[in-house]
Amino acid sequence: MRPCVSTLLFILLLVFSNGVYGQDEEENYNRPNSPLKDIKPTPKSLLCPKECTCTQEGVVDCAGVDLKEFPIELPEYTNHLSLQNNQIEEIPPEDLIRLYKLETLNLQNNRLTSRGIPDDLFEQLENLSYLYLANNKLTLAPRFLPNSLISADFAANYITKIYGMTFGHKPNLRSVYLHNNKLTDAGLPDNMFNQSNNVEIIIMSSNFLKYVPRNLPPALYKLHLKNNRLEKIPEGAFGHLLGLRELYLQNNLLSNDGMNNETFGKLNRLEYLDLSSNSLTHVPSGLPRNIVILHLEKNNIRSIADDVLTPVKNLEYLLLHNNRLRARGIHPAAFLGLKKLHTLHMYNNLLEKVPGGLPRRVKTLMLLHNQITGISKDDFNSTYFIEDLNLSYNKIMSSSVHKDAFRKLRLLKTLDMSGNKLKSIPYGLPKNLEILKLKENEIGSIPQDTLAGMSKLKELYLSFNKLKISSIYTGAWAELSNLQLLDLSTNQLTYVPSDLPETLEYLYLQSNRIATLSDSAFESTPNIKGIFLRFNLLTPETVKESAFYGLDKLQVLDIESHLALSKVTKQKKKEAEKEEEEEEEEEEEEEDGKR
Ligand SMILES: *[C@@H]1O[C@H](CO)[C@@H](O)[C@H](O)[C@H]1NC(C)=O
Ligand SMILES: *[C@@H]1O[C@H](CO)[C@@H](O)[C@H](O)[C@H]1NC(C)=O
Ligand SMILES: *[C@@H]1O[C@H](CO)[C@@H](O)[C@H](O)[C@H]1NC(C)=O
Ligand SMILES: *[C@@H]1O[C@H](CO)[C@@H](O)[C@H](O)[C@H]1NC(C)=O
Ligand SMILES: *[C@@H]1O[C@H](CO)[C@@H](O)[C@H](O)[C@H]1NC(C)=O
Repeated sequence: MRPCVSTLLFILLLVFSNGVYGQDEEENYNRPNSPLKDIKPTPKSLLCPKECTCTQEGVVDCAGVDLKEFPIELPEYTNHLSLQNNQIEEIPPEDLIRLYKLETLNLQNNRLTSRGIPDDLFEQLENLSYLYLANNKLTLAPRFLPNSLISADFAANYITKIYGMTFGHKPNLRSVYLHNNKLTDAGLPDNMFNQSNNVEIIIMSSNFLKYVPRNLPPALYKLHLKNNRLEKIPEGAFGHLLGLRELYLQNNLLSNDGMNNETFGKLNRLEYLDLSSNSLTHVPSGLPRNIVILHLEKNNIRSIADDVLTPVKNLEYLLLHNNRLRARGIHPAAFLGLKKLHTLHMYNNLLEKVPGGLPRRVKTLMLLHNQITGISKDDFNSTYFIEDLNLSYNKIMSSSVHKDAFRKLRLLKTLDMSGNKLKSIPYGLPKNLEILKLKENEIGSIPQDTLAGMSKLKELYLSFNKLKISSIYTGAWAELSNLQLLDLSTNQLTYVPSDLPETLEYLYLQSNRIATLSDSAFESTPNIKGIFLRFNLLTPETVKESAFYGLDKLQVLDIESHLALSKVTKQKKKEAEKEEEEEEEEEEEEEDGKR
């Protein structure tokens, strides 16, 4: 319980008449004996609670000061009031209504309950524009809100019910945030935004809605309904939303039966549609032409008909990963004419081969985690623009990679075929590659000229294979005149490969069978910065210290500590370790910083 206003006035009078400054003692300590008439406290400064800061312009900040009750002695002319991050449970009407000039009221992250907010509390604040009540304990939305309202944030409460006048009849209302509540269809009024025709943003994600709310305002450009229980999009639900640009419907229970070819048909401005994590079995038809980003991942999509995507002329990103697509389920003309489509994700499907009719302008193609067994001659015969191709974790065998399969991929920079069944490096890999990943295969040999002409290659990953020195063609590395990183770890090498390119900076050779290190082991790589030799068969007797002489740039030498190394190399190693430690520390600090 709090003293009522008159008691408070009485106390104030008492304080003044006695010349005592209870709470303001500190401020006035230098003139304890001043006669009362000399003190001219401006009424403005007087009316600022001591926990808060108040400006003459009416901005009052009481955020995060552990208030348990709504402050009573606020200046009447307050127009922006910050009370977020406190522990306020209720708002006495008379204390709020005094603040008749209020435009912004921030009460986020308090302990307000619906019982603590009378039905008509806010309605009388005739200029209230921004009302923030997110992160409280409201179970019902306020029944009435002033029609001056521009933005209302009620997210993260326990709201089950909205009233007709909560958001209705608000001509200025632009944005409504209601995500993370407990709204069901029955908790919404018939016409939630009646006469509020200017609402542009509605966020109602993470509630329990089964249907898309009816009569959505026509000016809407952002509608978020993810994480609900939507099963069906009623006929015409989006028919009048001609300005809608962003529609989130992911993580619902939508099936193809819950929509038809007219559901999205009128959304001519729609650029972002997310239907991921639903129960679609095929790509819906009637998608509007201006969609740029289309999320269809994590459904049960098995087929793409010839005419469902082709009308979406502006499509740039198509995300179809984690579905049940087989190559034969994709119509050869499915991507025809999608000239802007540059990113296509089809990983984690059931593709048994590269689907035909890939979009011609695709730059990033993700086909990893499928069942692809080989690459045929014409699989990539018209996708000249691919830069990044990920075919990792399929079942590709070297004998099933056609030697001309990559002939058109002159722009390909990154190729990943890790985790397949390759027994040797395939012939005909694109010459302009910068990064080639072939780890976790069964590669036992690098046949003559398979790496020829790859003068742009910077990183080559061949770890977890079965390579022996003798099965690598002589001169293989020398051709890679730009190579900086070579990962040959976990193979069956018995020596450090010779003829490594001069540009090499990092050489990973750990977990091989290297037994000796000759003094010329790193002769050809004066720029090397990191050598990793742990878990080989080296002994103090078989390691020639002189192998490391002259490697001025060496920062990391990772080798078992029992190997006796000269002072020089030991010193190098120490430095390296120190640097690593420092880096680790830095990383840790960074991590901490993030937290
Ligand atoms: C509300 O805002 C209008 C326009 O800014 C202003 O003229 C009016 O005086 C304000 N009303 C109150 C009670 O402050
Ligand atoms: C919408 O508001 C108008 C005007 O006040 C009113 O006549 C009508 O009944 C309201 N409609 C609904 C569905 O609440
Ligand atoms: C939608 O499908 C129905 C039948 O399934 C068809 O009659 C109608 O023409 C289609 N509408 C559009 C816009 O494609
Ligand atoms: C690509 O290969 C397919 C299938 O063999 C063929 O029908 C098509 O004409 C070829 N396209 C080009 C551009 O060579
Ligand atoms: C290919 O995808 C795998 C799995 O997501 C990823 O780890 C790898 O880095 C990708 N390859 C490239 C070259 O980006």
